[in-house]
Amino acid sequence: MNFKKKYNVDNNILEFNSEDPTFKSVSKFYDIEPFPSYKKNDNKLSILSVGEKNKFLKQLKNKIGYQKTILEAGSGTCQLISYLAIGTNNQCFALDSSKNALEMGSEFAKKNNIINITYCRGDILDEIFENKSFDYIWCSGVLHHTKNAEKGFDQLVKYLKDDGLIIVGLYNRYGRFWTNLRRYLYNIFGPKIIYNFDPVVKKLVKKNQLDQKKINSWIRDQYKHPLEKTYTFDHILSWFKKNNIQFINSIPQCDFSESNDDLFLQKSEGNFISRFIRQILMIFQNYGSEGGLFLFIGKKKVNSKLK
Ligand SMILES: C[S@@+](CC[C@H](N)C(=O)[O-])C[C@H]1O[C@@H](n2cnc3c(N)ncnc32)[C@H](O)[C@@H]1O
Repeated sequence: MNFKKKYNVDNNILEFNSEDPTFKSVSKFYDIEPFPSYKKNDNKLSILSVGEKNKFLKQLKNKIGYQKTILEAGSGTCQLISYLAIGTNNQCFALDSSKNALEMGSEFAKKNNIINITYCRGDILDEIFENKSFDYIWCSGVLHHTKNAEKGFDQLVKYLKDDGLIIVGLYNRYGRFWTNLRRYLYNIFGPKIIYNFDPVVKKLVKKNQLDQKKINSWIRDQYKHPLEKTYTFDHILSWFKKNNIQFINSIPQCDFSESNDDLFLQKSEGNFISRFIRQILMIFQNYGSEGGLFLFIGKKKVNSKLK
């Protein structure tokens, strides 16, 4: 892999320094409670099992196959990139602002003999990698915490090879309704609100996964974040158009009519009304109760002007 920016190596992590104040404050925030953190007994098998039970992740891993380059931008503690790396010869890269999160990922990999991940600490808004370096880029739960999500997306697209796939996950403007309401009540009544009404926390407690670290990490990320924005399907479609990215699919879907067995088969973008209804419906589905995150999948068109 060729890098555009100079780096130092510390504790198995390539450090691409940035003096940007927003980057520094987000990095500090996640250093205190890296996200999503690990359960005490997590290992290669438990990570594999979580991935294999998730239809989207399983199909993605099958689609990627072997001998590819993959970037997880905003990898947090690196579970997703570990899942994609395990049992493959793909060259995987984890990029994050938090040194502690990356160290947790790197320690996990060392313990579990995962050798095909490179850990990079740097800013998504910087130019770190050479253009057209990656076959797959995954960036979920991240850009809405940067000072300019669209610029971050533009930068990631430059790293993508022609025909490469990008998957971007963001908080939805409508779908985040319950989290916003819970945050408001939490600020008045305190953490009981979260323990009683946040389905993710309730699930963690119920399953007797009393890994307080994981619970704290979720609460901090969802309810105490200093920088959080929300987006609509139409925002992402406009980013796709500007960057010559072909829409493949979204979760939830933009339209109503189509079967979604193969998540990587091109679907309809729907129209403004269908997209609006789909987003409103998120409020009444698990998407909404569990944080309002939506995913868009796009493919970089061949001969993209972006060199
Ligand atoms: C909510 S966590 C998501 C982690 C992971 N993607 C997941 O879904 O589990 C957001 C992550 O984005 C990282 N992040 C935020 N802004 C960043 C930036 N400008 N450059 C690199 N990483 C950033 C944070 O350090 C944090 O680990």
